[in-house]
Amino acid sequence: MNILRRYSIAPSENHTPGVSVKEYESRITFRIDGRESSYVFQVDKEGNLEHLYWGALIAPEDDLTYLTKCNIPGLFDPTGILDTNTNTNSDENILIRNDSAFGRERQNFVGKNSKLLEWSDGGTGDFREPSFKVKHKNGSTNCPLKYKDYKVMKGKPDILESALPSVYVESENECTTLEVIMVDEVTDFSVSLFYTVMHKYDIIIRRVQAHNNGEYPAVLEKLVSCTVDFDAEYEYHLTQLSGSWARERHINTNKLPNGVSNVKSVRGTSSHQSNPFVVISSDFEAEEDFGQCFGLCLVYSGNFSITSEISENKRLRVNAGINEEMFSWLLGSKTDSDSNVFCSPEVILSYSGNGLGGLSRDMHRMIRENLIPKQWRYKVPLTCINTWEATYFNFVQKDVVEIAQAAKNAGIELLVLDDGWFGKRDNPTSSLGDWVPYEKKIPNGLNNLVQEVNDAGLEFGIWVEPEMVSADSKLFREHSDWCLRVPDRSLTLGRHQLVLDLTRDDVIDYVYNAMKDLFTSANIKYVKWDMNRHLTDIYSSKLDSNRQGEVSHRFMLGVYKIFKKLTTEFPSIRIETCSGGGGRFDAGMLAFSSQIWTSDNTDALSRMEIQYGTSLAYPLSTMGAHVSAVPNHQTNRSTSMKTRSLLAMCGTFGYELDPRKWTTKDTEEIKSYIEIFKNISKVIYEGDLYRLWNPFKTKSMAWMIVSQDKKRAVAFAFKVQREIGSLDPRLKTRGLDGDKLYNVKELCPRTLVVNKASGALEHSSVGYPILGDDIVLKGKTLERAGLPVNFLFDGDSVCYEFCSK
Ligand code: DGJ
Repeated sequence: MNILRRYSIAPSENHTPGVSVKEYESRITFRIDGRESSYVFQVDKEGNLEHLYWGALIAPEDDLTYLTKCNIPGLFDPTGILDTNTNTNSDENILIRNDSAFGRERQNFVGKNSKLLEWSDGGTGDFREPSFKVKHKNGSTNCPLKYKDYKVMKGKPDILESALPSVYVESENECTTLEVIMVDEVTDFSVSLFYTVMHKYDIIIRRVQAHNNGEYPAVLEKLVSCTVDFDAEYEYHLTQLSGSWARERHINTNKLPNGVSNVKSVRGTSSHQSNPFVVISSDFEAEEDFGQCFGLCLVYSGNFSITSEISENKRLRVNAGINEEMFSWLLGSKTDSDSNVFCSPEVILSYSGNGLGGLSRDMHRMIRENLIPKQWRYKVPLTCINTWEATYFNFVQKDVVEIAQAAKNAGIELLVLDDGWFGKRDNPTSSLGDWVPYEKKIPNGLNNLVQEVNDAGLEFGIWVEPEMVSADSKLFREHSDWCLRVPDRSLTLGRHQLVLDLTRDDVIDYVYNAMKDLFTSANIKYVKWDMNRHLTDIYSSKLDSNRQGEVSHRFMLGVYKIFKKLTTEFPSIRIETCSGGGGRFDAGMLAFSSQIWTSDNTDALSRMEIQYGTSLAYPLSTMGAHVSAVPNHQTNRSTSMKTRSLLAMCGTFGYELDPRKWTTKDTEEIKSYIEIFKNISKVIYEGDLYRLWNPFKTKSMAWMIVSQDKKRAVAFAFKVQREIGSLDPRLKTRGLDGDKLYNVKELCPRTLVVNKASGALEHSSVGYPILGDDIVLKGKTLERAGLPVNFLFDGDSVCYEFCSK
């Protein structure tokens, strides 16, 4: 076939990542190459975008259109278009096969339902889950879109809806963007599909922009961020991160059944229960280091849905985007240029031919370098002490300052004053919205308190929950219409609080100004931004009845707007987001906050699973992790200081303890862990993660982090439940340079002692190493022969450091 036109930003012949487009007589092919992967689709004769391939890199010269030969015409597929004006039937142009079925001639026409598609409309022959749904003036939702045009651009264009969080690049050479436009000629409704390939990863960022250019307004009832069709396999597996409060992001992998499966949230947040991230693995369950994995991660924090549909011919369709449940959006007509466009959130598509491990490492690097706020990219946060589990609501200024002074002795650098400092807040029943210091607790103003904490040698951080209002608050008494509420119905409380109506500009302004006043009132270096209930009573008094379906998404846009303004104006304040622990741990939040509180469950053994599950998508540097008291306040379980410390070091590393209770020996021990963390934190924050033992499959967990230059690494192993007389496998390293010599040293070596007061078995901080002296071995020996570990009790742990000679 003759190539009529060829356009290529990055020549793909030598596998340079980029986009290449080939135009033939009756079709156009689009090919998107990442570092080691390809994504290919074409415009078919009917103007559909037909998906051809997503997977490992394929030869650049090969034309993949032959793959469409495996399309089987469905017996009930629509067979053509009857043009009622000319009375011509496009069926006539279609070859008739001689095999007879269903009592009539069968045609070779392959309808939409039997194709792999990049974008799909409902009601005109594709019976799978559609990519969008738009209701026109006449009540019909039919809207068959045909290919119209394309553009290839260097870099990544901004999203028109500027409030939405997005992946960023610093130079246009880091990525290439393809925009493909599809139009419905009858209504002039169109969509632009954006594909941005990140050159140094196997990652494509997709998003969609819908545009109503018709005479009349239309109602968008669904618009996903991407549709991805996969060709038939014997089996597909889906891995998702699901859980509950205090048990977030446990790994769940299941074989996909025929029909539709849905990972979703309608709680107004991404939620504790589900996460907007899934991995599809084809043919067999993905292993850590082996197998093909396809990841989808929404850059969004509100209601979402990721549906997977196995159709009758064993093909798989995955749709990811805003949840269509409770969603609709009124699009203006062509004359309403400020309201006739709708932008979907971004979705990160990642491919790995090296199992889940490869997929996670690419996601981690991309999130660290292209998503979290730039200013925090290579900065390890200060080690912190958070007052929540030390005092809960029960403190006055003196307590806070004493905590700071005692924490300073151990080398802690930042104090975070948690809930209870504002309004008249002595418990969770009041004051959210009244963001002024509680005089009873902080009599001389916040600045004075912060000054005293600074004088003690610590920086200061503060807790807020700006999206909420307490029923018992000055704000609610003055503006009872400022919360989400349905007229003439009673209000639904959650933790005694209501959700502010952040679809409204006046409420957004109030929250922004309250935060701005707070941030400028004292030397604040850090903010913990909490959100402690889910959305109900989804209704805004400021929106017309035909716009009430917009509330949940507008709420999210309002939250993002506030974040954007504040993070732009206060770039030196680090934000940790939180939602009753890890109820909003998603890529949308990470665009504004470099870290997220991973869970309210601070028990080390529970955290093992929570942090391991979270690491499938999100880097260790983003996981808020603190050492807390024993027995643990959530589980009543006791684990050693060493194990609690090592787990917290695999995150942002801080404390929820009351340092006023520490003995000199405790302080010295904590100081020694902080020194260890300081020494290895760069590796943990910027290195590549290799998961070694899976806590969901074994009663233990191990992983290691290897610096990008492979000169340094740290490995951690934890034992949930030890079995007497049974050995643990040797810890076989991953990711080291096989030919490099490494000095292997056990950090915080082990010694078992009996705590005379409690009778509990604990580690002494001065111990003996398992290996005796440090040893020097080649990377390949460590990977193949491994290192011995020898756990002595439930919850025991070990940590090795590797430094190349
Ligand atoms: C929920 C958070 O996850 C906790 O850490 C703490 O900040 C409380 N909220 C305070 O109300």
